[in-house]
Formats: sequence, structure tokens, C-alpha cells
Amino acid sequence: MEMKVLQLHELLHVLAWLEGTWITDEPAMGMYPTIKPFNYYDQINITSIGQPMFNYIAQSWHPDSGIPMHRENGFLQILPGTNKVVLSLIGNIGAFTVEQGDLMSNDNNTLDLNSNNILLTDATVPTFSPLTKTRRVYKRNGDNLELIFYMATAKTPELTEHLRAKYRKVA
Ligand code: HEM
Repeated sequence: MEMKVLQLHELLHVLAWLEGTWITDEPAMGMYPTIKPFNYYDQINITSIGQPMFNYIAQSWHPDSGIPMHRENGFLQILPGTNKVVLSLIGNIGAFTVEQGDLMSNDNNTLDLNSNNILLTDATVPTFSPLTKTRRVYKRNGDNLELIFYMATAKTPELTEHLRAKYRKVA
């Protein structure tokens, strides 16, 4: 028998708006004190098969050459009976991040997630300063989604902006 794709799990109903494909129309911005500012495009795919979690994939690419850049795969979960969200990701720079926080209950449109729980694999990009903390804030406004991503590293110990992107829901 083939696997059945079931309806969205009831735990995820408060975040039903998040499911789908989100794309940057305009180049997103990347920055950090240690690097030259850069632009990129990004696509986030958030899908469900009926389990109490979303499957999360974000793939970015170079705006001029189209060459694939950063990629993150993982799961987004809501803890039953709470507004607590857990985003567990492995990125292609060789770092696992467990990003936890709240779905803001005043509008259910803002997610503010922090990670102090980072595992750097032996495959971590050796030229990058080791990642120590992350914070990401997603804000939805209708079919638009804004992401601001902050990180701290061994060399830059305060949470500092690395990415700013605006997505539109296309599917
Ligand atoms: C969302 C998760 C991400 C994490 C955890 C992350 C982490 C990092 C870290 C730790 C560095 C090294 C900074 C330093 O050594 O001071 C870095 C650099 C960089 N990141 Fe990200 N990044 C992420 C997303 C992205 C995305 C989406 C892009 C764009 C496509 C991107 C593009 C870059 C570039 C171009 C550099 C500089 C590379 C170099 O100088 O060799 N990052 N990132």
C-alpha cells in the first residue's frame, strides 16, 4: 500500500497559514560584521503529511549565477497545549540548531525562536567562526512573510543580524 497523506494535524491548525511555498521576489540581504554584504534568493517549503509537525526546507541561491547556497532541512513542532514552537534544523554548513520560542498569541502571526542548543559537526565549514547562538523572527502579513535572522559566533559573541528576507506565498 502507498503511504497516505493525511489532513493537517489539529495541533498545527493555529499555524495552518504557514504551510506552503514561500519565495523571495526581490533579492534578500545578507550581512555580518566579518563579511561583505551579499544578496540571495530563497525558497521555503513547508509541508505536512498529517503528522504533528511540519517538514521544513529552505534553499537559497546566488541572485546572479543561480548557484545553490545555504540549505536547511528539518521539522517545526508545537508542544501540545502550549504556544511553544520547536524548529529543529540541520544546515549544510554542518550545524544542527534547535530553535525554540513562542508563537505570539496576540495574532498567531509572529514566531520568535532562539537557539542556545547548537551542535557543530566535524563537517562544519572550517573557515566560519563557530556558531554559538541564533535567533529568528518570522512575521506574517497576509501572503507576505518577513524573516530576520540573527546569530552569534565565537568571534562575534552578541546576536547580530545575518539575514533579512521578505517572502511571498506562491503555493
Ligand atoms: C539560516 C542559517 C544560517 C546560519 C546558521 C549561517 C551561519 C553562518 C556563519 C557562522 C558564517 C560565518 C561568519 C563568520 O565567520 O564570522 C556565515 C557566513 C556566511 N553566510 Fe551564513 N548562515 C545562515 C544562512 C545563510 C544564508 C541563507 C545565506 C545566503 C544564501 C548565507 C550566506 C553566507 C555567506 C555568503 C557567508 C560568508 C561566507 C564566507 O565569507 O566564506 N548564510 N554564515
